[in-house]
Amino acid sequence: MIEFNHVYKNYDKNYILRDLNFTVNKGEFIFITGPSGAGKTTTLKMLIAMEKPTHGAVKFMGTELNDIKKSEIPFLRRKIGFVFQDFKLLPKRTVFQNVALGLEVSGVFGDVITKNVSELLKAVELYTKKDEYPLSLSGGEQQRVAIARALVQNPQVLLADEPTGNLDEETSKIIINIIKSFNNKGTTVMLATHDKHLIADTGRARVIDITKA
Ligand SMILES: Nc1ncnc2c1ncn2[C@@H]1O[C@H](COP(=O)(O)OP(=O)(O)O)[C@@H](O)[C@H]1O
Ligand SMILES: [Mg+2]
Repeated sequence: MIEFNHVYKNYDKNYILRDLNFTVNKGEFIFITGPSGAGKTTTLKMLIAMEKPTHGAVKFMGTELNDIKKSEIPFLRRKIGFVFQDFKLLPKRTVFQNVALGLEVSGVFGDVITKNVSELLKAVELYTKKDEYPLSLSGGEQQRVAIARALVQNPQVLLADEPTGNLDEETSKIIINIIKSFNNKGTTVMLATHDKHLIADTGRARVIDITKA
């Protein structure tokens, strides 16, 4: 479903990624790991066409993302949920409105929005906080809103960038279990983390270490 073939990436003179090669199959749970600065965020961003490889090819479901047309990018992003490292929640919209946003942009309205958003908020155990604003929530709760927002369009793939970054161990476990539960229902997951402990705790996941790329 996802393929990186001889991917190189540089922003300035220095290559961040050199000859990165991997494939991900439908339904897998993948950890992208490596120290800070290794290129984890860059690797995930290439999958939603926010960055392009300098050389090599990135493929998603048969589409070569190097030559994706601008007009096709929104369709690509509907198939891929992205949880940003810093959440990117909108402070002036409620929890419900933040999660609903992606659906509204896709032209979904009314009852379908209410149904889908409510379902997701229940799945991340935040339904009771649906009318609150992001800044009144804890870090773990904001992270769960970001996950709900990424998943509300029922994407085939969830990309999560350091989703346990600023969270304590207990809260991290809750987040990982939520992501695992969606993976168990069929969503392919790629989770970027520099935290070795997190990986040790998770059973049947596959680890792709990009340090050596
Ligand atoms: N837009 C950019 N312009 C210039 N340098 C960047 C940009 N994005 C990332 N970098 C640099 O590329 C390297 C890899 O970044 P990143 O992909 O964020 O790594 P990671 O997520 O593993 O910490 C870092 O040294 C970072 O400073
Ligand atoms: Mg990063």
